[in-house]
Amino acid sequence: MKVLIIGGGGREHALAWKCAAAARVEEVLVAPGNAGTAAEPRVRNVAVPTEDIAALVQLARRERIDLTIVGPEAPLVAGVVDAFSAAGLACFGPSRAAARLEGSKAFAKEFLRRHAIPTARSVTFTHANFDAAWVSSQPAPLVVKASGLASGKGVVIAASPAEAVTAAQAMFAGQFGEAGREVVIEEFLQGEELSFIVIADGQHVLPLATSQDHKRLRDGDQGPNTGGMGAYSPAQLVTPALHQRIMREVIEPAIAGLAGDGTPYTGFLYAGLMVAPDGTPNVLEFNCRLGDPETQPLLMRLQSDLTALCEAALAGRLHAVSAQWDARAALGVVLAAAGYPEAAQRGDIIEGLERAALLPGKIFHAATRREADRVLTNGGRVLCAVGLGDDIAAAQRAAYQLAASVHWPGMQYRRDIGHRALAAPRP
Ligand code: AMP
Ligand code: GLY
Repeated sequence: MKVLIIGGGGREHALAWKCAAAARVEEVLVAPGNAGTAAEPRVRNVAVPTEDIAALVQLARRERIDLTIVGPEAPLVAGVVDAFSAAGLACFGPSRAAARLEGSKAFAKEFLRRHAIPTARSVTFTHANFDAAWVSSQPAPLVVKASGLASGKGVVIAASPAEAVTAAQAMFAGQFGEAGREVVIEEFLQGEELSFIVIADGQHVLPLATSQDHKRLRDGDQGPNTGGMGAYSPAQLVTPALHQRIMREVIEPAIAGLAGDGTPYTGFLYAGLMVAPDGTPNVLEFNCRLGDPETQPLLMRLQSDLTALCEAALAGRLHAVSAQWDARAALGVVLAAAGYPEAAQRGDIIEGLERAALLPGKIFHAATRREADRVLTNGGRVLCAVGLGDDIAAAQRAAYQLAASVHWPGMQYRRDIGHRALAAPRP
């Protein structure tokens, strides 16, 4: 079997590595991939950008790809799965219509309300109907969100209504381009954030192991929001009772709602949740893909053949399969470039990768490229060092040992990934 992975980040390195490990997989192609995927056995990079859907379809045809797995949201929202399906090619991910759940926060909020799924109260505005006086009368803090895709940058937590008005007006004025044509303003929710990721086949759902990420740049969950500075699995916060509530109150109504609306959802579905002190799993957002960096520790723990799970989902047979997970914990630390998340410095030489390869655990590449015999940084989140261990503490030690073995000028990373899990009382 031949597999194509679309994307070139840390999530896609983990996907390619995992698929290449399946006995029945002869070769994995990654478009466009990175220096890490290029170095994996039975993995080959192909220089096709993720935006060029027609070229991706051609590639899959030419290479006789049996299964394509899409990593990032942009090609999904742009309809890559529809284009592959029209060409008779198996492509794992939601259709363009189903991917609107991530592509339009305005759509997602309306969907959540209609299906009575818990979420923050909100109002959606366009420039034309923006009501600054109403916003000014709301209690602070307020959360202002560009409705469209903004690479995780389109959310402002406004400490005052005036700040919320300014943030919304900046979005209408084009701060995030088209993504800010509609703006969602919602109440600020208290609680603990959680990623809940499942595989869906249109009708049935297979939850992945639990995971949690750290979105803030600096230790102690301080500093600006990022795509994620580290993640671990399992997440102790998810007790069996909470797991049940999330399935019953969020995931099942979402999958049934999408099917009922005529846009059945196949693919990975990621619910970003804020679990309230009373246990209510409020949806902050849906992502139509796997999380990055959650995928890296998750796939380190997955023992089942991922390609078989994706094929079962494409066949609508997810109820007939199960996933096996390593009982150990996995924890990933993101190693980022200087200047991330505002303006990441690129082109620095990464030292120590050979040394790291001899240690337990694994370093997944995210933004790297090879130039002659050197590996260079090529963006904000450069690597993700993942350790495995009998518990989160042991996985954390292994991950930080890996992290300490590599270096480049300006490399930055958090020293406390997993701190919430370590502080929590043991069950
Ligand atoms: P989102 O892209 O909608 O998940 O928002 C990005 C981040 O902003 C989330 O991961 C939360 O940390 C924070 N956030 C979003 N919405 C809210 C909310 N209603 N209340 C509190 N924090 C929020
Ligand atoms: N780690 C957050 C995300 O993938 O959106």
